[in-house]
Amino acid sequence: MALLEVKNLKVWYPIKGGILGRRVGWVKAVDDVTFSIEAGQTLGLVGESGCGKSSTGKAILGLAQITSGEILFEGEDITRMVRHNRSPYRKSVQMIFQDVYSSLNPRKRVLDIVAEPLRNFEKLSKDEEIKRVEELLAIVGMPPSAMAKYPFEFSGGQRQRIGVARAIALKPKLIIADEPVSALDLSVQAQVLNYLKDIQQELNLAYLFISHDLGVVRHMCEHLAIMHNSRFVEFGTRSDIYDNSQHIYTKRLIAAIPDIDPAKREENNQIRAAVAQEFEEAHDKYYQDGRAFDLKRLSDTHFAALP
Ligand SMILES: Nc1ncnc2c1ncn2[C@@H]1O[C@H](COP(=O)(O)OP(=O)(O)O)[C@@H](O)[C@H]1O
Ligand SMILES: [Mg+2]
Repeated sequence: MALLEVKNLKVWYPIKGGILGRRVGWVKAVDDVTFSIEAGQTLGLVGESGCGKSSTGKAILGLAQITSGEILFEGEDITRMVRHNRSPYRKSVQMIFQDVYSSLNPRKRVLDIVAEPLRNFEKLSKDEEIKRVEELLAIVGMPPSAMAKYPFEFSGGQRQRIGVARAIALKPKLIIADEPVSALDLSVQAQVLNYLKDIQQELNLAYLFISHDLGVVRHMCEHLAIMHNSRFVEFGTRSDIYDNSQHIYTKRLIAAIPDIDPAKREENNQIRAAVAQEFEEAHDKYYQDGRAFDLKRLSDTHFAALP
């Protein structure tokens, strides 16, 4: 049984217009998306800005309203429960954000920030609480002295660690990580990815790892979902996606991975140009009125939105 199953999820935001504020249309942010995540595993959700990644993550947490579809957690239908802040489900699923600074209250000390979920769900004595926060900070590689400080006293990478310490406070089973390293310097990105992997092992965490960059998620994710215009266009294992991509949009994302090796830059520029041209020419074969086809099964693990 999968840890999380998302079935035919739609998140449509109403567009209101006129003086009466009537609904005049929809922004179809997520348009019929189905996937599952196993305990302890990482699913990468990748696509360009605006394609519906955050809306997918927020729907799972009840932060965006579900228009239709179902969410199952450990086999139980929790679609109607996701919005209840104190349900056990909301303990088991946590989120970490790209813009961690705005998600950390600047007027609170790190102790209060990390202890907040504990205070909502568990009755701990002051001493127990401090001990727990100390342990959580240690897991993300921060010293106990951090507790008395404020968010502005830390670097971007350290603040991301504080956000992670808070997210793991209630021993969740799933973390929705929404572009967790996109705002960080390249040198810090690798460190953060590494400790996210380390704590995953330690705590048997599953991740839904959201990114706009296929390069970043390469070493994080056993499975990947490629999203374009509110739809999944391809789904598969790491090797299905990186070595055997079938959808033109996936190929374009792969060609867009920044080069590390300067010697290959010229060659890759040519590949990129060729894929961009193929994307223009073949676009209408892969989309019907701009909408990706339903996923077709290519193997036990590999699916693509082909006609
Ligand atoms: N609260 C909202 N109300 C209306 N439209 C929204 C809202 N949030 C996101 N959108 C729109 O939904 C689409 C998908 O957004 P989002 O899920 O944030 O994409 P991503 O995370 O991939 O950049 C975009 O067109 C965005 O403008
Ligand atoms: Mg987003």
